[in-house]
Amino acid sequence: IPKMERLLLSSYVLPLLLLDLMNGGLMSQAWTVPDCTIADSSLLSNLSFYVPFCPLAPGLHTFASCSNVKDLTQTLRAVPWDIQALCLQGMVPILPAKEFARFPFLQLLRLQLGTLKITSEAFQGLNQLQYLSFEHHAPCCLSLLLPPDALEPLTFLSSLSFQGYCLNYSQNIQLPISLRHLALRHSCLRELQELQGLFSNLVPSFSPTASPRPWSPSLEVLDLSSNLQLNQAGVRALNGLQLHSLILDGTPLNALGLLGSGLLHLDFLSLVGTGMEKLPGKVSGYFELRALDVGRNRIQNIEDGDLSSCHSLECLSLQANSLKFLPIKFLNALPQLQRLNLSMNKLGPALVLPDGLVSTNLRVLDLSHNELCVLPYGAFSFVPQLEELWLSGNNISNISSESLEGLKWLKTLDLSWNKIKVLNPGWLFFLPALTSLNLLGTYLERISAKQLQGPQRLSHLQLGSLQTLDLYPPWSPALLSLEIWAESCIWFNIPSEEPFLLLENLTLQTSEVALLPYNASVHFPSLRHLTLRGISFLGFSSLRSQRSFPQFPVLEHLHFWSDYENTENLELFGMPNLRVLELGDMNFLYESRSTKLEMVLKEVPQLQVLALSHLNLGNLSKSNFRELDHLQLLLFNSEWALGLDSSLQELIPQMPPYVYFSDVTFTCQCESSWVGSWATQAPNTFVYGLEKSICMANASDYSKTPLLSFLSHHCAHDLEFQGFLASFTLVLLLTILTLLGCPKWPWLHHLRTLFHAWWWKLAGRGPRSQFRYDVFISYCEQDQDWVLEELVPALEKSPPAGEGLRLCLPERDFGVGQDRMDAMAASMENSRATLCVLSSRALESPWCHLELRLATYHLVARPGTASLLLLFLEPVDRRKLRSYHRLTRWLQKEDYFDLPQGKVEWDAFCEQLRKRLRKAKQDRDD
Ligand SMILES: *[C@@H]1O[C@H](CO)[C@@H](O)[C@H](O)[C@H]1NC(C)=O
Ligand SMILES: *[C@@H]1O[C@H](CO)[C@@H](O)[C@H](O)[C@H]1NC(C)=O
Ligand SMILES: *[C@@H]1O[C@H](CO)[C@@H](O)[C@H](O)[C@H]1NC(C)=O
Ligand SMILES: *[C@@H]1O[C@H](CO)[C@@H](O)[C@H](O)[C@H]1NC(C)=O
Ligand SMILES: *[C@@H]1O[C@H](CO)[C@@H](O)[C@H](O)[C@H]1NC(C)=O
Ligand SMILES: *[C@@H]1O[C@H](CO)[C@@H](O)[C@H](O)[C@H]1NC(C)=O
Ligand SMILES: *[C@@H]1O[C@H](CO)[C@@H](O)[C@H](O)[C@H]1NC(C)=O
Repeated sequence: IPKMERLLLSSYVLPLLLLDLMNGGLMSQAWTVPDCTIADSSLLSNLSFYVPFCPLAPGLHTFASCSNVKDLTQTLRAVPWDIQALCLQGMVPILPAKEFARFPFLQLLRLQLGTLKITSEAFQGLNQLQYLSFEHHAPCCLSLLLPPDALEPLTFLSSLSFQGYCLNYSQNIQLPISLRHLALRHSCLRELQELQGLFSNLVPSFSPTASPRPWSPSLEVLDLSSNLQLNQAGVRALNGLQLHSLILDGTPLNALGLLGSGLLHLDFLSLVGTGMEKLPGKVSGYFELRALDVGRNRIQNIEDGDLSSCHSLECLSLQANSLKFLPIKFLNALPQLQRLNLSMNKLGPALVLPDGLVSTNLRVLDLSHNELCVLPYGAFSFVPQLEELWLSGNNISNISSESLEGLKWLKTLDLSWNKIKVLNPGWLFFLPALTSLNLLGTYLERISAKQLQGPQRLSHLQLGSLQTLDLYPPWSPALLSLEIWAESCIWFNIPSEEPFLLLENLTLQTSEVALLPYNASVHFPSLRHLTLRGISFLGFSSLRSQRSFPQFPVLEHLHFWSDYENTENLELFGMPNLRVLELGDMNFLYESRSTKLEMVLKEVPQLQVLALSHLNLGNLSKSNFRELDHLQLLLFNSEWALGLDSSLQELIPQMPPYVYFSDVTFTCQCESSWVGSWATQAPNTFVYGLEKSICMANASDYSKTPLLSFLSHHCAHDLEFQGFLASFTLVLLLTILTLLGCPKWPWLHHLRTLFHAWWWKLAGRGPRSQFRYDVFISYCEQDQDWVLEELVPALEKSPPAGEGLRLCLPERDFGVGQDRMDAMAASMENSRATLCVLSSRALESPWCHLELRLATYHLVARPGTASLLLLFLEPVDRRKLRSYHRLTRWLQKEDYFDLPQGKVEWDAFCEQLRKRLRKAKQDRDD
């Protein structure tokens, strides 16, 4: 599948890339976008922990999140065009027309831009946009001017949200008919009635004169939370509207007002934090509500009368209401009830059970944080269909099987953070269907799997103790996920014949782990996700003498947060499938026995994500990274005195697409001088976080020197890198200009071939080793005579008179009428080496420039495959080569030939050339 993907990518992306380049996007492809994060959240699930994040909707991954935006056009110019989500925060007074037209794939747009005036065509071109929000966080409220037709282009919009804005200057906003979710939170609504003026087609008109407006959206959710002045509904304010959900959290509006509002249909009403003291039975009855959330209110008593009109409720949430008891007829009155949330009330210490009728519909019951101490026998026998029971954060110390009797469909039981000291044998006996059990935060010191017997399908288990935890088999063979927390030590006793056969996820949070017998590889053969927190590496492996990290053949994600101690012998091998590696809180320079990153990464060939936090890495050089071939994301976090050696720039062509530095302090050293130019102009890597990084000259340097300004003021300008970039971009630019100048498609084909070859190289495949020619000779017209009369015979004649090489000469070997550039690219492809004959005249000819650049482009794009040799016909001022300056890095000494004109020492020259070509041949054949 990855291969297929690559194929698809190369055939789809390349033409797109070319098109984009031709659109003039080239210069804006500099991949550091100041004040922006650009990321693909699918690579690392915990990415938001490290870099500023854009809240995404399900299914979206690629985003740009920019802060301090002042010049919107400038910011957007640098953002890649193919992102799915864009979050902008800053101060922008006006949103000009067609500002976002460059982002055809944008699905989510979140604007926090202060007081804002939007022009009519601002959202033109956003055909795929689904989520649009305008946000301002306290104090309320800013003004927002939205012209009536501004949303018209958004034919796909499904969610529109305003927060912290008053819309009182905007009127008659036309909502797209695709809209399903409308939110106006923290606004200055006083009456529901105002909505009709704001949104011209919100409410379908049923007046006898006007025909019903077919272009009204069929809204599902209307969210008006935190409108602190909204206290009047107004007659017929929502006339004819049919909603699924109405959210009025934190508004003073009396829900009774909804009765006269003309609202035709409502399933779910949310009135969280409105200060109400009685269950809104009348409203519930009027709309025949199916769900009601009245959490965080002051409902201390529920009377039978309130319940009488709630019979239609399927979900009721009463959390955080200081409820002390439930009325006797509670469940009787709510025959449809499926979910009941009673968390954070005061129903304890002994659960007083509503007697009488049994509820056969209740599936989910939340009784967490209720100060419950005792669960009486048969406590839940009145809800035989229960599937989830939440009892977290109570005061339960002893639980017996009789308390849980009758729950034969129970799947999820949460008893975390209670005072459990004893597990009575067979306490789960009556729970045959249990799949998920949470026992975090107990006072148990020893858990034997025997105590958990009963449920056959227990697959998700969480165990935790405040001290140490000893674990004894036999474990359920169905276990897929296991999470264990203990303050000081987790002690696994696993006879080797009873491994956790199917276990996929293991999370351990403690300081020491001991496995008996010592070999985690045998015990966890199916592990895919391993999370270790707070663990000193010492406790987690076998004999002291030969400690090594266990091998997990199918492990994909490893998150290892240690305790900032020794990490000696942390070597990862035997994990051929590891894709994501997060390491944190370790000391790589612990007492003189330094851990080497290359040893840690010894054998993780499939690694895609490497996130390193607080590791005291010191100075990084090229040798620290073995294989970056598949790496997509490299992240450094909370690093102190990090140095990036100059040898690292050799890795530039292989750098992953995303490199992040978050909260990193560097060493002020000129060895890192390449970083400045790289970070701001890196051609194929997005670099985040260097603009704001500081560096320190030594441990007591508190001057907070910005890294980049140190590099540019104290270190000689990094010509090499500038040269690299200059020629890299120039090659592309020139090529594109040529394309635009003479739009011959065969050219495009060859460019594609070039990219293809490069792509394959990146994809880990070598290019073909079939060459038509030994040497492609590039020269300019002015030097043609010398080349044809002297050079060619010397190289082409068969030995001993000459070298017997197969040469390709543009003037001679290109077909008549063939496009020269076209043929040239192909011939270079088909030659073992390219020999450029250079004179000062040649360097002045734009044509020669292009050839040389194309050749050097080969060299950069396919390091190790193309050979470039330079033959100087006369002493050429090397400064003229400045724009090819990177050649000094890519070329070896023997790649230069100086040939002072007139005194041609053919023998020496040919000998040297022969040697070099042989080497090139070997290199290319390898
Ligand atoms: C993300 O990483 C941080 C740092 O260890 C951790 O505290 C947090 O729990 C992680 N979050 C998730 C969802 O893994
Ligand atoms: C808009 O609403 C705000 C807050 O209620 C108020 O201060 C302001 O005067 C209103 N402006 C207009 C034009 O009504
Ligand atoms: C009960 O409500 C609280 C607060 O809204 C929520 O966190 C909890 O998840 C809910 N319980 C269930 C089982 O949905
Ligand atoms: C929890 O129970 C213990 C006795 O078992 C009692 O001392 C303590 O006050 C209870 N805590 C609460 C919050 O009820
Ligand atoms: C736990 O409860 C069971 C049954 O209610 C009882 O027999 C046992 O003595 C209790 N144990 C403790 C330590 O309270
Ligand atoms: C294991 O963890 C991953 C990531 O948290 C999750 O997506 C997956 O569903 C888990 N698998 C099981 C069996 O719990
Ligand atoms: C652990 O078990 C695996 C698989 O049986 C074996 O290859 C490995 O050598 C063992 N490691 C140790 C330290 O015994």
